[in-house]
Amino acid sequence: MIHIPKGTKDVLPSRSHLWQFIERTARETAELFAFKEIRTPVFEHTELFQRGVGDTTDIVTKEMYTFLDKGGRSVTLRPEGTAGVARSFIENGMAGGVLPAKLYYLISAFRYERPQAGRLREFHQFGVELYGAAGPQADAETILLADLFLRRLGLKQIKLELNSIGCRQCRTAYNEALRDYFRPHLEEMCADCRARFEKNPMRMLDCKEEGCRRITAGAPRILDYLCADCRAHFEEVRSLLDAAGVAYEVNPSIVRGLDYYSRTVFEFTTSAAGAQGTVCGGGRYDSLLEQMGERAVPAVGFAAGLERLLMVLEAEGVPMPEENRADCYLLGMDEVSRRQCFLLAASLRRAGIPCEVDLMDRSVKSQFKYADKTGARFVAVVGESELSAGAAEVKDMRTSSSERVAFEQLAQYIFAHKNKN
Ligand code: HAM
Repeated sequence: MIHIPKGTKDVLPSRSHLWQFIERTARETAELFAFKEIRTPVFEHTELFQRGVGDTTDIVTKEMYTFLDKGGRSVTLRPEGTAGVARSFIENGMAGGVLPAKLYYLISAFRYERPQAGRLREFHQFGVELYGAAGPQADAETILLADLFLRRLGLKQIKLELNSIGCRQCRTAYNEALRDYFRPHLEEMCADCRARFEKNPMRMLDCKEEGCRRITAGAPRILDYLCADCRAHFEEVRSLLDAAGVAYEVNPSIVRGLDYYSRTVFEFTTSAAGAQGTVCGGGRYDSLLEQMGERAVPAVGFAAGLERLLMVLEAEGVPMPEENRADCYLLGMDEVSRRQCFLLAASLRRAGIPCEVDLMDRSVKSQFKYADKTGARFVAVVGESELSAGAAEVKDMRTSSSERVAFEQLAQYIFAHKNKN
């Protein structure tokens, strides 16, 4: 027996409607803000992520599914969506098109992490990217989109944490301050942090090691090092969120696990789903496109993890849609009636009514049992007398009442009655 790879999950038919609910809500919310879907490949040239996501991140140094294809090229399964979308934006000349470009995606992504609840090796994201708008209103609108998405799902116990990590200019001064602070503690810090010290000391603030966290708790805060422009930008994002009634907390320790961010960064977190509490993360990344060899195009976006959202929805007990069910089960009592049911089913489906017929040669009794188990609202019984009357005996499984309905009226009848109690 071959088992499913570690860190991956099947979505079984009994749960796929929950996924569809989240995906539908994502699409509808993105479209409320006039974002359009973009689809990019599952794998890209490895270099895209090394340059895009950043070669000091855990994702690039430890977690990528990288392999040589049969032509000897190094390719990588996407660990996230932003780099691929940025590549596509550049490659398809979207910077010369209508701006802002407002794009969304629903994707699977791959990271070789230690699997646990809410942390998988293949996981799914709903993400949005907005290109071309540099002002704080674009940041605020992106955050509003994420907020509305979470609200439309029905989540209540979600907290928005906000920070600004400034621009390259503020970060030069800040990185020096961080190095001065960390230098006397380096011996006590983990090997990763010692490696980050020279290359990217801000990444040390994201370390999960207990010993390191104690030290980083006293580190200087980026908000004290913002230049005037970055400070004004952050103030305006905050004031727009205040005006829109979106509650947030400024958390200076949010630095994000990817290198491309500048200015606004944010995370939506919850304590309802155990250790993996970040359901959504994003921010502004004005220098990514330039780093990828293109002219600078301001950008902001986020991605939400669908597995984590589902965990939180269930932990919070949020009401979700029920499983999809057929409206009608067509039950033939004998050979000839079964044939009639087969034809009736075909015409109901053409009319847009989900229905089922027996494909297992079951007895009348076990057909009833099956129909009951699948939760079909109506069972249309056809036997000898119904055949000669040209009408089915339609049982409403919810009320247990029955009615004779002419074959050609069946679709209309079901349409008219299916939403009644
Ligand atoms: P990220 O914070 O790496 O950001 O991932 C976004 C979300 O994906 C996380 O908040 C989490 O819910 C989910 N996620 C990440 N890793 C896993 C995992 N191993 N298992 C389950 N869920 C996971 C990004 O990916 C950026 N591209 C977001 C972005 C878009 N920034 C700007 N635009």
